[in-house]
Amino acid sequence: MTKKITIFDTTLRDGEQSPGASLTSQGKLEIAYQLANLGVDAIEAGFPVSSPGDFESVRIIAKNVKGPIICGLARCMKKDIEAAGKSLKPAKRPRIHVFLATSKIHMKYKLRKLENEIIKLAVEGVTYARRFADDIEFSPEDASRSEREFLYRVVEEVIRAGAKTVNIPDTVGYAVPDEFGHLIGSIRGNVPNIDKAVISVHCHNDLGLGVANSLAAIKNGAGQVECTINGIGERAGNASLEEIVMALCVRQDMLNFKTGIARKEIYKTSRLVSKLTGMLVQPNKAIVGQNAFAHESGIHQDGVLKKRITYEIMKPQDVGFSGSKIVLGKHSGRHAFSERLKALGYKLNEKDVNKAFARFKIVADKKKEVFNEDLATIVEDEVMVIPEIYHLENFKVTSGTKILPTATVELSKSKKIFKATSSGDGPIDACYKAIDKIVGLRGSLADYGIRSVTSGKDALGEVSIRVKIKKNEISGRGASTDIIEASIKAYLNAINKIAGKRK
Ligand code: KIV
Ligand code: ZN
Repeated sequence: MTKKITIFDTTLRDGEQSPGASLTSQGKLEIAYQLANLGVDAIEAGFPVSSPGDFESVRIIAKNVKGPIICGLARCMKKDIEAAGKSLKPAKRPRIHVFLATSKIHMKYKLRKLENEIIKLAVEGVTYARRFADDIEFSPEDASRSEREFLYRVVEEVIRAGAKTVNIPDTVGYAVPDEFGHLIGSIRGNVPNIDKAVISVHCHNDLGLGVANSLAAIKNGAGQVECTINGIGERAGNASLEEIVMALCVRQDMLNFKTGIARKEIYKTSRLVSKLTGMLVQPNKAIVGQNAFAHESGIHQDGVLKKRITYEIMKPQDVGFSGSKIVLGKHSGRHAFSERLKALGYKLNEKDVNKAFARFKIVADKKKEVFNEDLATIVEDEVMVIPEIYHLENFKVTSGTKILPTATVELSKSKKIFKATSSGDGPIDACYKAIDKIVGLRGSLADYGIRSVTSGKDALGEVSIRVKIKKNEISGRGASTDIIEASIKAYLNAINKIAGKRK
């Protein structure tokens, strides 16, 4: 039978300990609701004794969030355990998580205590916590660097005192997978009463091995994993929830375990945690990064477009993305390019696709990503024949330092002449407003650029603009030795594209 792994989420406790991350009580509650939607089995909501704010966060989560176990952290100290117990009082399924370091390094330098004192404190901590809740978890902090024989003794004693879960932390992310898996196996083999408790693991990511260590532990008998959304946590963070869950799901052939996670909620949860903690997700982060399902190289794009599984091991929709992303850039190929044009509604013959593709490659060399708006301009410039519905016949501008810029523009359309006058912020603006009056559209300039195409005093100036007309953004170009005339021609070029479409 496929064994179910308990997902213990500590985003709101260890995750919030990430340097730079801080959450309000309201933000924590919002995340806790979403963690419940995600289907985690336990939420470690905070460290109640650490601050009144943390106490209150744990309390409101315990009161409002139904479904998962709600857990609060405590050192093996009465005041910590009391704070945890009080804050968890409204919870339907409270758990107190007590911890005490067991490695020589921590005992000698941090706690200044001997082995027997540690065992006594651990047992007293668990016993005292049981006054407040039935469900007690105990963590021998820095377990992966603890002396094995001592660790077995501690684990045995806390189970005897009533701990139902023993969590084995790789506190400083020092372990490597084989070693950590072996540690879990040896705890199972050397602690006589281990069958009375669930073995949990809590792996930090200092060597980037948090997820690998957690999976090795699961393979060796761990029944619970502690993890965080987006892998946030102390220093380099904790094992990431989404990576563990998806590894178990995608590699069922190698890892015959399941979780109760609603995988379609993963991306939404990741976004919420990122937004509320202010911790950005790196683009190449597995499962939830913006590039996790994005393809840039022509070979990959061609493969994915032919058959998704060539380059994707899971469906983006299964973790809540809307789909794969084909990024058009300098490595992209003709297949992806022409598919995108089709999706944008352009029906081009092969010759035109080739023409547009050649220009696309030039643009892509200069830009990181070529967006749909850029493609529209490429197609308009290279392929579409713009009918000259409105033609410039004449214009006159008056402008100066102390007069309001005014323009009169004469256009012809189907052999009829139309004339309008307008003032504006400058001579070009006045011309554009006069044109708007004639054509009955209102354009607003989104971008304006000018460059000289030839050299010398009579250099030809080329004006390139982008105009917003209704919901469309259209490009226009015009050239002349007179920059106002070039500007008018660029505007008319854009207007004619719209007028052509209207016609
Ligand atoms: O990393 C750690 O050891 C911890 C414990 C409190 C479980 O966060
Ligand atoms: Zn930790």
